[in-house]
Amino acid sequence: MKQTILVTGGTGFIGSHTTVELIEAGYKVVIVDNLSNSKVEVLDGIEKITGVRPAFENVDLRDKAAAENVFKKYPDIEGIIHFAASKAVGESVKIPLVYYRNNIVSLVNLLELMPEYNVKGIIFSSSCTVYGQPKPENLPVTEDAPHQKATSPYGNTKEINEQIIYDYIHSGANIKSIVLRYFNPIGAHPSALIGELPNGVPANLIPYVTQTAIGIRKELTIFGNDYDTEDGTCIRDYIYVVDLAKAHVAAMSRVLDKETDKIEYFNIGTGRGNSTKELVDTFEKATGVKVNWKFGPRREGDIEKIWGDCSKANNVLGWKAEASLEEVMASAWKWQLKLREDGIM
Ligand code: NAD
Ligand code: WQD
Repeated sequence: MKQTILVTGGTGFIGSHTTVELIEAGYKVVIVDNLSNSKVEVLDGIEKITGVRPAFENVDLRDKAAAENVFKKYPDIEGIIHFAASKAVGESVKIPLVYYRNNIVSLVNLLELMPEYNVKGIIFSSSCTVYGQPKPENLPVTEDAPHQKATSPYGNTKEINEQIIYDYIHSGANIKSIVLRYFNPIGAHPSALIGELPNGVPANLIPYVTQTAIGIRKELTIFGNDYDTEDGTCIRDYIYVVDLAKAHVAAMSRVLDKETDKIEYFNIGTGRGNSTKELVDTFEKATGVKVNWKFGPRREGDIEKIWGDCSKANNVLGWKAEASLEEVMASAWKWQLKLREDGIM
């Protein structure tokens, strides 16, 4: 058995997939989640896939005393993967202080507790949102591309959290960190036992596509077809959530087992840009299901095009995105069908 890892937000979308990959790689996992955006039944899915039920603590990380009790209860925790955060961009504009408190206080509490409880490394969930709209000459974006002021409080929390980790480590704190900047995570575990559970009307493309395909939504609107791209629709780097989960396993092994810089940054994406229209077409092709869609006006604040240069993660972490877009779309559809079968949606 490898080290014990604390996965915060471990019943969430990316956290649950990462827990599966950690267990399959031989790590012991302790999950902390306050279930504000996930369900405890996710643990059943993880157990069905791996044969192991991870330890679970229903704790709100804003509560430092409660967080400290987790480290007291599991003194063998050596690493943290910190997913727990509020993530809805639109909501963050309406209730910014809730976002600042949740996303910033939770991280500060963990960082303060790490040296006290001899926790060596933390992997932080950052986002390509820190790059804003890169200049055309900076595409694909590398890790040292200039950051831009985020267009939402949510985006600001990612930038601020990166800065907090940097400042703490540079103050001499005896911890290490790897910051992973995800591009757009999509899809679900091939077993369809875990996946994404969007709350209400989805803001993100893929849940909107699958919910339209199954008839929960009447019509998908593709936001804008007059962008400066080949088909006029926006471009993103869509990364399969299982591939993304595996990047965390590689990062954890690096942070705990290798002599490395105390803080490192990696883009985690496919290195490829796909347009919104291409995604919808690929979904239809991969599943044989038609999506009722139309072009509509641009969505305010949307980035026109971004995709990542992920060669640093390929070369240094020894990690690479593997899944094809067709496979990923098929996994998202299988998950949507499973939600219907289980009467969840
Ligand atoms: P998610 O909402 O599915 O998972 C986050 C989990 O954290 C949820 O289960 C929620 O209940 C929990 N949580 C929130 N606040 C908490 C608190 N104070 N204490 C304990 N638990 C708490 O989100 P996700 O898509 O899995 O995202 C995981 C991380 O990755 C987040 O930090 C997010 O900002 C980041 N990220 C996500 C995306 C994306 O598009 N999904 C892209 C880039 C970065
Ligand atoms: C993808 C593309 C839309 C819905 C957001 C956050 C970002 C992040 C990931 C966290 C865009 C288009 C979407 C629809 C559409 N995560 N679209 N019709 O905007 O890249 O990023 O999630 O850190 O911070 O901002 O993702 O899935 O919302 O949109 O046409 O109904 O799909 O315009 O081009 P986005 P998304």
